[in-house]
Amino acid sequence: MSTNTIKANRALHRFDGQSEVWLFGYGSLIWKADFEFIERRPARIEGWSRRFWQGSHDHRGTPEAPGRVATLIADPGAICTGMAYLISPEVFDHLDKREKNGYLRELVTIQFRDGDTAQGLAYIAGPDNEAFLGETTESDIARHIARAAGPSGFNRDYFQHLADALRELGEVDPHIAAIERELEKIG
Ligand code: SIN
Repeated sequence: MSTNTIKANRALHRFDGQSEVWLFGYGSLIWKADFEFIERRPARIEGWSRRFWQGSHDHRGTPEAPGRVATLIADPGAICTGMAYLISPEVFDHLDKREKNGYLRELVTIQFRDGDTAQGLAYIAGPDNEAFLGETTESDIARHIARAAGPSGFNRDYFQHLADALRELGEVDPHIAAIERELEKIG
């Protein structure tokens, strides 16, 4: 899988006759909505865990010194909380560029807080993409995040925005909480 997924994503869904699509965001898409949306609702998906196992060559790092950003790892029974956006399919032109570094749109079942569900898409960077860094300890992840930076800014800012956004939503993600504690130790 190439590190540029724009073409692959364009070929994935045709959205024939569809004027609205749900998108589930679990990383920067929670706190950086730089796109038009019709509606936004806190939501969760089942069977996936958020992990800082994806490398970032284009936003929070460089190809030579990648940053570490969020992806989803298949994990039966796990819950990942985030934000769902109802968007028009044209918005994927922008999103595919933004998420081009290894992320592919995948179909997920989104559960809203009131119990409603909807089918939607989430950008997931799987273990077969070239930028994938994989599992390591949360203290290693924190040390990595503390030193990385890229065209979109410091890796640490990406992480902190996400940790703060989850707090605002009243959600606790043990992986995020553990990295945050490790980052506090680094100072
Ligand atoms: C997402 O936020 O849903 C995808 C990963 C990211 O852009 O941080």
